[in-house]
Amino acid sequence: MNLTLKIWRQANANDKGKMVDYKISDVSPDMSFLEMLDVLNNELIEKGEEPVAFDHDCREGICGSCSLYINGEAHGPDRGVTTCQLHMRMFKDGDTIFIEPFRAKAFPVIKDLVVDRTAFDRIQHAGGFISVNTSGNTIDANAIPVNKENADDAFSAATCIGCGACVASCKNSSAMLFVGAKVSQFALLPQGRVEATDRVLNMVNQMDAEGFGNCTNTGACEVECPKGISLENIARMNREYLAASLKG
Ligand code: SF4
Ligand code: FES
Repeated sequence: MNLTLKIWRQANANDKGKMVDYKISDVSPDMSFLEMLDVLNNELIEKGEEPVAFDHDCREGICGSCSLYINGEAHGPDRGVTTCQLHMRMFKDGDTIFIEPFRAKAFPVIKDLVVDRTAFDRIQHAGGFISVNTSGNTIDANAIPVNKENADDAFSAATCIGCGACVASCKNSSAMLFVGAKVSQFALLPQGRVEATDRVLNMVNQMDAEGFGNCTNTGACEVECPKGISLENIARMNREYLAASLKG
């Protein structure tokens, strides 16, 4: 396939940035999207030009690093996949593809297509954990009975990889699907109930402090989430938050 790429280039956080056109030829439909960008970067390096900076690590849908906004959609036109799992067969010969970074006030651009998502780390640090004794006398998790439905829902919530596509897809740049998933994965399990009140208050407060917007129930986050995280997690977080607020 021969393609035209329109890619956001921005030298650093203070640079204004602009879209730049690139032609790329002989792209195999079996290449991943990131492999296609690797080929482009090799060509740019051979020409003595600056390669396009983009985030990636595992390249198998696990780490949540890859974060491109492709033709107006977080992670591109496929469903249930991350950018690294997107294949060029989703595009046609002659296509023009727009490639931008995830855009949100709380995700400032560092360079080109790389954004700073440490706001998510700070939300996690505010409460996305359980405090357990790891000194050698831990209780086997299987010794605590857990309702099957709750266990399944907790595991589903725990599949969130923290990619930020929910934020990038939301007109309000809301992080509530991410935070809802992180709150839910603990709220549904007995091990998570001990610190549940502080967790939801602290994580939501940190989310607000980072500058993420509010949820207005448009559901774009759920549609674009590569892991199919359900809006139900936002509803659960809201219930947890209300109960925690009433407790004071
Ligand atoms: S909820 Fe989905 S879109 Fe949002 S960070 Fe988690 S995996 Fe990514
Ligand atoms: S590079 Fe790890 S999820 Fe895409």
